[in-house]
Amino acid sequence: MTESNRIVIFDTTLRDGEQSPGCSMNLEEKLKVAVILEEMGVDVIEAGFPVASKGDFEAVHTIAARAGKAAICGLARATKGDIQGCADAVRAAPRHRIHTFISTSPLHMKYKLQMAPERVLEIVSESVAFARSLVEDVEWSAEDGSRTEPDFLCRCVEAAIKAGARTINIPDTVGYAVPDEYAALIAMLINRVPNIDQAVLSVHCHNDLGLAVANSLAAVQAGARQVECTINGLGERAGNAAMEEIVMGLRTRADRLPFHNGIRTELITRASRLVSAITGISVQPNKAIVGKNAFAHESGIHQDGMLKHAQTYEIMTPESVGLNKSTLVLGKHSGRAAFKAKLKDLGYDLGDNAVEEAFVRFKDLADRKKDVFDEDIQALVDDEMVSADQRIRFVSLDLHCGSKAPAKADLELVIDGAARQVSAGGDGPVDATFNAIKALFPHTADLQLYQVHAVTEGTDAQAEVTVRLSEQGKTVIGQGAHTDTLVASARAYVHALNKLLVKREKTAPEAL
Ligand code: KIV
Ligand code: ZN
Repeated sequence: MTESNRIVIFDTTLRDGEQSPGCSMNLEEKLKVAVILEEMGVDVIEAGFPVASKGDFEAVHTIAARAGKAAICGLARATKGDIQGCADAVRAAPRHRIHTFISTSPLHMKYKLQMAPERVLEIVSESVAFARSLVEDVEWSAEDGSRTEPDFLCRCVEAAIKAGARTINIPDTVGYAVPDEYAALIAMLINRVPNIDQAVLSVHCHNDLGLAVANSLAAVQAGARQVECTINGLGERAGNAAMEEIVMGLRTRADRLPFHNGIRTELITRASRLVSAITGISVQPNKAIVGKNAFAHESGIHQDGMLKHAQTYEIMTPESVGLNKSTLVLGKHSGRAAFKAKLKDLGYDLGDNAVEEAFVRFKDLADRKKDVFDEDIQALVDDEMVSADQRIRFVSLDLHCGSKAPAKADLELVIDGAARQVSAGGDGPVDATFNAIKALFPHTADLQLYQVHAVTEGTDAQAEVTVRLSEQGKTVIGQGAHTDTLVASARAYVHALNKLLVKREKTAPEAL
């Protein structure tokens, strides 16, 4: 393997991923994602769009200030204000990048920008040159690049490189390209742009036709050396190319794809679970690499084959993506040391206080649930992580329900440090619980989604509940886990409310 075969992995979970509906994350959550991306060996972390809001700026700035080896990148439109704001946000990172873009397709230039192509070309040079006056590392993107007229695209790319861009990204913004066409576009740029050897060609594919990963890999075969992707394929609309699929495709089919990258694939499962827990976007069971069934062999013929030789039906090992066999881990007699060792095994690196809180909840779980599996510990710790530092905290819930009388919920919450109790009725236990929360913390948010999922098998399994709330165009997702589905529901609702409070604070502090 040579340096010319090295693929730069550019993760945009915190920017394109965070842009998708219901995926917004608070600062603390973004930091957690940035930490795992860094641990995975991601080369470039696109941490956000700094001028989008004060919160976005703060997040990019804080991630940059805590950065390690990964370059921290921010997105900027082709305006001085955006580019300056981006430079200010990323500068604290030892390695930092400005990613600036403008649309280049006829459709976007005419209707979105309402600009003549020659003006767009001037802006490409001006914006890149301005970004280069502020930082060394500048990436330029041709938005809607895959639908751009080839001659014009070549002129824009040449101008961006001449002005100082060292990464040129050709997005398939609307997920319209097909693999051979997209590969030909990359090859065309390599053949026709005179100064192309001074830049790394990058691809950024959306998944509207389910082709984002196929297009990215075809582009790599044609000469692209940076792939932009996200954990779990999060992103606008149908999402972006999934990082786990890109890197496992490269690893598993190194015979056809002789390229290397710096990703520690054993951290894939943990990163996927973290992003899913934070965003509340669950991974479909049959999703490649990180779906619950991706390594499950159900049919008798397959199981028989697997027992005789794993490679009969397994092209990659579960261990290579950090998935250990579901094991009976601990019981109610397990002590702190065993619990700490298990957390380490599962890839969690928690501070002493967080371990202690998780241990108390584990003991409580072990009292209620006979068998405690890896998945239980993961659900519990993820739940603990999302519930830390909240203004509204769940304390207890007592329910009276069944077929004889209307449901009634007795709820206790701590709101801004003060304990508050209430009794509320409702049409069933979930309605009564949510009415009780509303009585203690009045709000106008709409409940848009209520979803329950069992963490493991069996009637004593923990329930993982997801709640989506919406208030004046702001959407948030909350999650909670518990063996009692109603307690998990209350925790999820409270979690969503806390996120809503953070959003309100960012946009209208006086409303608090
Ligand atoms: O999809 C897209 O075109 C983008 C650019 C801003 C890079 O996300
Ligand atoms: Zn995009």
